[in-house]
Amino acid sequence: MKTMITDKWNRPLHDLRISVTDRCNFRCQYCMPTDQFGPNFVFLPREALLTFEEIERLATIFVGLGVTKIRLTGGEPLLRKDLPGLVEKLSSIEGLEDIGLTTNGVLLAKLAADLKKAGLKRVNISLDSLNDELFGKINGRNIGTKPVLDGIAAAKAVDLGIKINMVVKKGVNDSEIIPMAEFCKKEGIQLRFIEFMDVGSTNGWKMDDVVTKKEIYEILKRHFKLQALEPTYFGEVAKLYQYTDSNMSVGFITSVSEAFCGSCTRARLSASGQIYTCLFNGNGHNLRDFMRNGATDEQLRHRIMDIWSQRTDRYSEERKTVTTHSLPKIEMSFIGG
Ligand code: GTP
Ligand code: 5AD
Ligand code: SF4
Ligand code: SF4
Repeated sequence: MKTMITDKWNRPLHDLRISVTDRCNFRCQYCMPTDQFGPNFVFLPREALLTFEEIERLATIFVGLGVTKIRLTGGEPLLRKDLPGLVEKLSSIEGLEDIGLTTNGVLLAKLAADLKKAGLKRVNISLDSLNDELFGKINGRNIGTKPVLDGIAAAKAVDLGIKINMVVKKGVNDSEIIPMAEFCKKEGIQLRFIEFMDVGSTNGWKMDDVVTKKEIYEILKRHFKLQALEPTYFGEVAKLYQYTDSNMSVGFITSVSEAFCGSCTRARLSASGQIYTCLFNGNGHNLRDFMRNGATDEQLRHRIMDIWSQRTDRYSEERKTVTTHSLPKIEMSFIGG
């Protein structure tokens, strides 16, 4: 039986984002800059990671508390050994309606068919430029676009739902807004432009580097005719517009300029089994040790209910009025966005 729970602002718990690893084969400037995530960076040791059985157990409890949608994230989730095996376990959870994956796409050509077979429904693939040289610079590993484009093609071939995520940073890839929009429209894939966010403490975020939705929209308007669409469900992260000459849409994720905390229904589970109630609140709740010390399903369930019912986070809305925040920070690569 499902129990619906709400937080202090009456927001229900609907989505669970599960990070399966803190490692990544990219070093995107805005997420894992090479000078901070160098060869000596210490990642989580194997034994700290939740096993697939532990993830499945927690996910089942979350679904019993109202979660209908799970998204697997990283770091880069496809680096986790046998990820299709986890997807298969999760897809057998009764009441779970949607399983998605957020990936840089590099390993997708190899894994798309197995993921689809295991029950994955959708992939959100990050691609910040179509220019090989620029893309190589942004991903910090000099990797060109080919492996990602191959990953997109493989996801298409097995009929996975696809969205493309593009983080726009001023003076870095704003010149790619139109080429990316044209490419995605032609490919029949929804592109979402993401405002560069102040997550963590390593990416050197400055407001000056943000290209806002308004600015991107102005650029798009010179090339395309667009019409705003109504949100498809409560808590949709992206604001969508349709091209008037096709049935394709394009979106904006406006965490900086138009916060969407009021409808935030997302909990996050780190690879090491901590629950976070906001992308910007580094106070995690350790479910892994509680579970490993013998907690029953009922005890875990109550712990999660307590955590969610105490939740007050609305960082992006408060950012406008509060310039200094006392909450500990959390890295994007650790919590998966
Ligand atoms: P679907 O809408 O289910 O396709 O996925 P999504 O857009 O929620 O997930 P995805 O991993 O593709 O995230 C896209 C961008 O939205 C990333 O930059 C995330 O960090 C950002 N994002 C997702 N959820 C939140 C949130 O709750 N708060 C903030 N500030 N950003 C979020
Ligand atoms: N701001 C906005 N989006 C980011 N992502 C990673 N770091 C940031 C940031 N600082 C995006 C990735 C990926 C998703 C999980 O989050 O590009 O699409
Ligand atoms: Fe880039 Fe995603 Fe890896 Fe971060 S986790 S470095 S955004 S590919
Ligand atoms: Fe949710 Fe926090 Fe993002 Fe607001 S800033 S939408 S509360 S995760």
